[in-house]
Amino acid sequence: MRNRRISRRDFLIATSGVTGALVLGGMAYLSATRPTTPGTIMTSTIASTVPETSVHSTTSYGKLDPREPGNFSNRLRLPTSSNGIFGIIRSPSSVSIHTRPRLLDLAETVKKLWVYEEILNEAPTINPIIMLRRGENFKASFRNEIPRETIIHWHGLTVDWRNDGHPYYAIDHGGSYEYEFTVNNRGGTYWYHPHPHPAAEQIYKGLASFFIIEDSDEDALRQSLDLTLGKTDIPLLIQDKRFEQGDQLTYDPNPMERLMGFLGDTVLVNLTLKPYLDVDTRYYRFRILNGSTARICKLAFVKNEKRLPFHIIGVDGGLLEKPELVDEVFIAPAERVDAVLDLRSLSQGDIVFLKSLGFDPMHMEMMMGSVMNHVETGSKLLEGEDFFLLKLIVRNKVAYDGEIPQKLSIIEPINTTNATERAIHLSSSMGAQMMQWLINGHTFNMDSYPIQLKRDTVEIWKIINMPQSMPHPTHIHGYQFQVLNRINSPPEINRLRTDNRGRIPTDLGWKDTMLIWPGETVKIAIDFTTRFAGDQKYLFHCHNLEHQDNGMMINLKVT
Ligand code: C2O
Ligand code: CU
Ligand code: CU
Repeated sequence: MRNRRISRRDFLIATSGVTGALVLGGMAYLSATRPTTPGTIMTSTIASTVPETSVHSTTSYGKLDPREPGNFSNRLRLPTSSNGIFGIIRSPSSVSIHTRPRLLDLAETVKKLWVYEEILNEAPTINPIIMLRRGENFKASFRNEIPRETIIHWHGLTVDWRNDGHPYYAIDHGGSYEYEFTVNNRGGTYWYHPHPHPAAEQIYKGLASFFIIEDSDEDALRQSLDLTLGKTDIPLLIQDKRFEQGDQLTYDPNPMERLMGFLGDTVLVNLTLKPYLDVDTRYYRFRILNGSTARICKLAFVKNEKRLPFHIIGVDGGLLEKPELVDEVFIAPAERVDAVLDLRSLSQGDIVFLKSLGFDPMHMEMMMGSVMNHVETGSKLLEGEDFFLLKLIVRNKVAYDGEIPQKLSIIEPINTTNATERAIHLSSSMGAQMMQWLINGHTFNMDSYPIQLKRDTVEIWKIINMPQSMPHPTHIHGYQFQVLNRINSPPEINRLRTDNRGRIPTDLGWKDTMLIWPGETVKIAIDFTTRFAGDQKYLFHCHNLEHQDNGMMINLKVT
């Protein structure tokens, strides 16, 4: 069994309706590969295995099915300068943010989401994009009006732990919390989301938006490309969901999904279903954030089945040193990719799709007797399957003389001469009732600190993922790191390598989240210099949110 490679579809087909066809003593691993010919898709078989609660009426799902390029007829929701959804709040001296349930029109349907809301001059801004310059001070009064405990985490920002949104500080419904910190990160695309424990449901239900930092490198880039946020500089928040009947977005992962990750089968970009964007013949910047709980995307811009080259100009912690020309990029939950697309040579009426291309998700299926009878996922859109995200429609030929600067920023390598090395093993174990993901053998415990280190030291972390595993997007709070090496990468990653250290284009900037594939070892450098007084308590965890909720998270203490 262990070495047999069988597709997830074959597996579903083989086991559907044949309860107990595979009786396994303990645990078996199946490697899921995706079928290479679309013709082998047996949708009806899969549909018949989807549990009752998530069955869409076929007609309504047909329109929403992201595997179909049709029906991309909803205008992409764009950040606007004041209110609305993704209203931009520039350099606020203070904001007052609430979490609250709100009905949102999602084109086909109205759903009750949980959103962040800022009331400024009586006009609500939903999931506001907060924008500050490096060095500015930020204050937020936060009030929780959803029926769960919660806390806001500013993902990627270097703040003291009292402002970081550790679950230790989670507040009840009706409670409030005050944040105040100086924005000290490089210019770039950061984000904010809830971080109680567990957290997945809240992000899934809509709580997530951008935190954009500007600096002089960003000013220079904006000038050379003539960019305007919300017009030619487009934040894209990608999230997969399941749209059941009714006005609720339900989040009810089954045991297998709690272990593997909860996948949606409809895809929202900026809370827009099947979106389109009118574009002109010029350069566009897309700040892409994967805000899905578990889905990894392999992004490409495609015109008539052909990929268009594009430049990666930035990642999690801001701009790269120079643009990297690519034709695909992986983006895991919580990662950001800053891409520039050249549309200058296109003609009026041309259509370009932002797609997620098919890939081998390398999910070694872990099964126990108790979950054998369950369908492993209630999603019709499988892991690694290709689908459409956003349709770009070329409307106007325009005169344009912008250029991508060849020098975007300076990235000083972290000095690792006196660094100590620490091994971090991503693994799993069979607990009493349930399989669990572990970090160095630990599961999350609010009061224990499996990683303790001294401030103002540099460490090299060697993060090792087991061969029989899943890809884990690992994330650290409080610091940005640099990728030193990638070893034993799967072929799809090896193809992208840029140097003899195995690094791929997205490894060339400052990172806070990094996807580690099964069998892979990644070495990173972290400078634990801190400007905050006292012990700082942060987190290191997997940003597959079901893995995180399942306990794949540990505290770290910097003393
Ligand atoms: Cu995006 Cu610990 O979080
Ligand atoms: Cu974070
Ligand atoms: Cu994980």
